[in-house]
Amino acid sequence: MNAGSFFPDNIKKALQNTPPGEWIPEIPDECISLHCGYPAPALMPDEEVKAAVTSLLEEEHDLPLHYIGSPKIIKLKEQVLKRLKERGISVAEKELLITSGACQAIDLIARILLNEESIVAIESPTYMEALEIFQNYTRHIISIPVDKHGLQTGVLEEILEERRQKGFTLPRFLYTIPTFQNPTGTTMSGERRQHVLELAKKYNFLIVEDDAYGELSFNKCFPTLKAMDQYSRVLHVGSLSKIVAPGMRIGWIAGASEIIHACAWFKKDLNHPFAQAAMAVYLANTNLNNKLVTLRDTYRSKRDVLTSALEQYFPESASWYVPEGGYFLWMKIPGADTSELLTHALAEGVSFIPGKYFYIDQAAGTEFLRLSFSYADEKEITEGIRRLGKVTEAYL
Ligand SMILES: Cc1ncc(COP(=O)(O)O)c(C=O)c1O
Repeated sequence: MNAGSFFPDNIKKALQNTPPGEWIPEIPDECISLHCGYPAPALMPDEEVKAAVTSLLEEEHDLPLHYIGSPKIIKLKEQVLKRLKERGISVAEKELLITSGACQAIDLIARILLNEESIVAIESPTYMEALEIFQNYTRHIISIPVDKHGLQTGVLEEILEERRQKGFTLPRFLYTIPTFQNPTGTTMSGERRQHVLELAKKYNFLIVEDDAYGELSFNKCFPTLKAMDQYSRVLHVGSLSKIVAPGMRIGWIAGASEIIHACAWFKKDLNHPFAQAAMAVYLANTNLNNKLVTLRDTYRSKRDVLTSALEQYFPESASWYVPEGGYFLWMKIPGADTSELLTHALAEGVSFIPGKYFYIDQAAGTEFLRLSFSYADEKEITEGIRRLGKVTEAYL
C-alpha cells in the first residue's frame, strides 16, 4: 500500500516543496553560530520562569495541568491587550487570539484566507518560515523588493495597478515585517507605512504585519502599522519569543473580529494552558519595560561589535545595512555565491545563512547572506567575523 496515495491534491503539491528547515546548515559543534535567530542564552529567564511555574503550581495545584487550564490564561490575554495598548494598538478582547508563537499565527491566517488560487504578496527577501507556510497553501506568490527603507511600496503599487488594469486577481493579503525585518534588519519608513495602508484600502487587501522584533529598537521607532490602521485591514502578529523565550510558544494575532473568530475556529491545540498560565505569572512578576532596556542595550552592543568587526575584517567590496534593532544584519558580497562561501566558512568554524533561502527566486539571493548578532557572545562575534572575513578574502 502507498499511504501517500491517500493525500488530497493540495497536500501532494505542498509535499513537493523544499522540506521545512532545509535552510538550516549542519553546524559542527565547535562552530561560532552567526546563523540562528535565537535570543542570547545569557538573557534566557530560566530562573524567573522556574519561579513562575513553582508559584503557579503552589497556588493552583493540578488546575493548570487540566484541559481547561488555569484562569491565568485570561490574565495573559489581558496582559497582552494592555501591552498592545501601551504601543498604540487598541483592540477589544474579541479582536485578539493568543497563539503558539507567531508561526502558528501566520499559519492560521494563511489557512483561513488562502486557497490554491489565492494570491499573496510578500517582501523579497523575507522570513523563510513564512515562505514555507504560504507555499503550503498557494503557488501564487508575488515578491516585492525591500531596500534600506523597507518594502518598496512604489513597486507594490505598480504591480497592483498593472494587475488591476489587466483584470488579474489581486492579493488577499500582503505579508510584511515592517520593523527590523528578517532577514534584512531594515525598517519601513513612516511614509511607506502610510502608503501601504492607503494601497490596502485602494486595492482591497489585508496586511499581515509580523512584529516579532518590534520591541527591540536601539533608537527611535515608528508606530506599528496596526497603530496606524484606520480601516481594520491590519492583522498584527506578535510574539514573546524574541523578548522572553521561544520555547514558551506564546504569540498572538490582533485584528478584525471576523478573522480572529475564524482563526480560533481552526485552532485545535486547546491553547497550551500550562505555558499560557506560566507566562501570565512570569509577566505579572516582571517589569517588561526594564527587561526591554536590558535587551536593547545588549543587542545594540552586539550589533556594534559586529559592525566594527565587519569594518575591520571584511573586503571593501562587501556592503551591509546597519540595523536599528532586532537580531539580523544583511550583507552583499558582489561576485560571491554565498552557498559556496558557507562551505568554506563552516570548515573555518563559523556559520551564517546564505541569502537564497529568503527568496522565492533563489537566484536573487546568491550574493547575499544573513548574519545574526543575537545568539553568539561579543567575543565570538568578533572571532567569527575575523574568520569569515579571511574566508571571504580567500574565496573572492
Ligand atoms: C519575522 C519572524 N516572525 C516570526 C518568527 C517566529 O516567532 P515564534 O517563535 O513566535 O513563532 C520569527 C522567528 O525567527 C521571525 O523571524
